[in-house]
Amino acid sequence: MSMTFSGQVALVTGAAAGIGRATAQAFAAEGLKVVVSDVDVAGGEGTVELIRAAGGDACFVRCDVTRDAEVKALMEATLSQYGRLDYAFNNAGIEIEQGKLADGNEAEFDAIMGVNVKGVWLCMKHQIPLLLAQGGGAIVNTASVAGLGAAPKMSIYAASKHAVIGLTKSAAVEYAKKKVRVNAVCPAVIDTDMFRRAYEADPRKAEFAAAMHPVGRIGKVEEIAAAVLYLCSDHAGFTTGQALAVDGGATAI
Ligand SMILES: NC(=O)c1ccc[n+]([C@@H]2O[C@H](COP(=O)([O-])OP(=O)(O)OC[C@H]3O[C@@H](n4cnc5c(N)ncnc54)[C@H](O)[C@@H]3O)[C@@H](O)[C@H]2O)c1
Repeated sequence: MSMTFSGQVALVTGAAAGIGRATAQAFAAEGLKVVVSDVDVAGGEGTVELIRAAGGDACFVRCDVTRDAEVKALMEATLSQYGRLDYAFNNAGIEIEQGKLADGNEAEFDAIMGVNVKGVWLCMKHQIPLLLAQGGGAIVNTASVAGLGAAPKMSIYAASKHAVIGLTKSAAVEYAKKKVRVNAVCPAVIDTDMFRRAYEADPRKAEFAAAMHPVGRIGKVEEIAAAVLYLCSDHAGFTTGQALAVDGGATAI
């Protein structure tokens, strides 16, 4: 399936690594201009270098998504760099190892909710006026399969990703008539550096993670990127307010 892009502008948060980096690369490979954003400057500039080395057009803008003024400045930088914004992938997120609910603490709650929920809300708050002003566009937010059901020992993370889906659906309905589509992608376990660091030490954990998915393996960052590009493309023109699980069948069990 060929995508329907022709030189538009995409913004990706949390683009210094993992799913965000792969999606920024995928947008660039389709000919889009990409604003790569993250708090990790070295990683973000690394993503831009990879895109330019492959012949693409990208720039890095540092932004902490928990800060209103920084998110506002990110949109201003996008406009001054490329003159418009067509697609936003609000992907920055953190996952802090937690115990059971009663063992959690306030600092973990505030940190996880700050990045995963407030960050997505602030990004959409400052993106939607740009999309409305130019007659439409698409937003994809990164939720998780932990946004669709229980996540034992990760209750705060699960709550944050349920909240991302709540923001996604509400915004989708509010702006549907204005040609702004808003969807979420819900990955299961994806092979990222973070996953490798955690599981390299213990191959049994890696086997357990693979077995959680009916397809018998964990996912690839490129498989999430492909879903995000589809949700942004005109092929998904009738799709809004959805939380698309990209999970090797994990939530079908
Ligand atoms: N990897 C998985 O298995 C998996 C599964 C489901 C959902 N997710 C979600 O996917 C998204 C990307 O995760 P990833 O696996 O690629 O992890 P990652 O840690 O490689 O990427 C997350 C990025 O977000 C950035 N970030 C963190 N706090 C930020 C802030 N305040 N402002 C701006 N950027 C910030 C980090 O610097 C990092 O580059 C997250 O929202 C995560 O919750 C990941």
